[in-house]
Amino acid sequence: MALNRFPKVYDSLMKPMEKLKFGNIRRNLLEKAEGHVLEIGSGTGVNFSYYDQADQVMAIEADPMMREKSMEKAKKVNVPIEVIIADGERLPFADDQFDTVVATLVFCTIADPDRALQEVRRVCKRNGRVLFFEHVRVDRSLLGRIQDLATPVWKRLFDGCHLNRHTLQRVQQAGFNITKIEKHFMNIFYVAETRNHKGREFT
Ligand SMILES: C[S@@+](CC[C@H](N)C(=O)[O-])C[C@H]1O[C@@H](n2cnc3c(N)ncnc32)[C@H](O)[C@@H]1O
Repeated sequence: MALNRFPKVYDSLMKPMEKLKFGNIRRNLLEKAEGHVLEIGSGTGVNFSYYDQADQVMAIEADPMMREKSMEKAKKVNVPIEVIIADGERLPFADDQFDTVVATLVFCTIADPDRALQEVRRVCKRNGRVLFFEHVRVDRSLLGRIQDLATPVWKRLFDGCHLNRHTLQRVQQAGFNITKIEKHFMNIFYVAETRNHKGREFT
């Protein structure tokens, strides 16, 4: 699939999974997104209808066509949502600005995920919530090996998506404090609720 078609087909490709499972996962996770919320890589705005508890949402997205598609959804919800073009690796915000940061199905694609995780740490308030719904390379040898083998082709077809990233480990190594974790679909997908401890919580 040509890369520039991905924004056009994303919602149709995802529809079966959204109906089967992802919609419920998003609803349950995003009801915890409170206050001033930042979403990283908001794509076509699939999450926008779930932000019932947020005061306002700032979404960043690298792809202008994705942003354009998401604007239609932003207009249909009650919560004010702004979508700007930016890179997760260089967030154009001051330190300690957001109560909640949301990342769903995005750290598989971001070119420098460790840098983007540090940017999330920086702009999220101390002890703020950071909510992840991501897919990862599984530990089991056969399935993990299949993910490794499929990734070179998969990332060409699906806009840079890596099937075999160790995103959960990266989240832990970045210093997020995981308070709840759920795994789905043979442990390929996980939901992690975390807190952005910055080292002063225990003093
Ligand atoms: C697989 S889509 C997920 C979209 C949405 N978050 C969801 O849950 O359906 C990944 C999105 O991340 C965006 N993206 C990729 N790299 C990015 C970066 N460095 N900074 C911001 N967004 C990025 C892509 O343009 C794409 O819209």
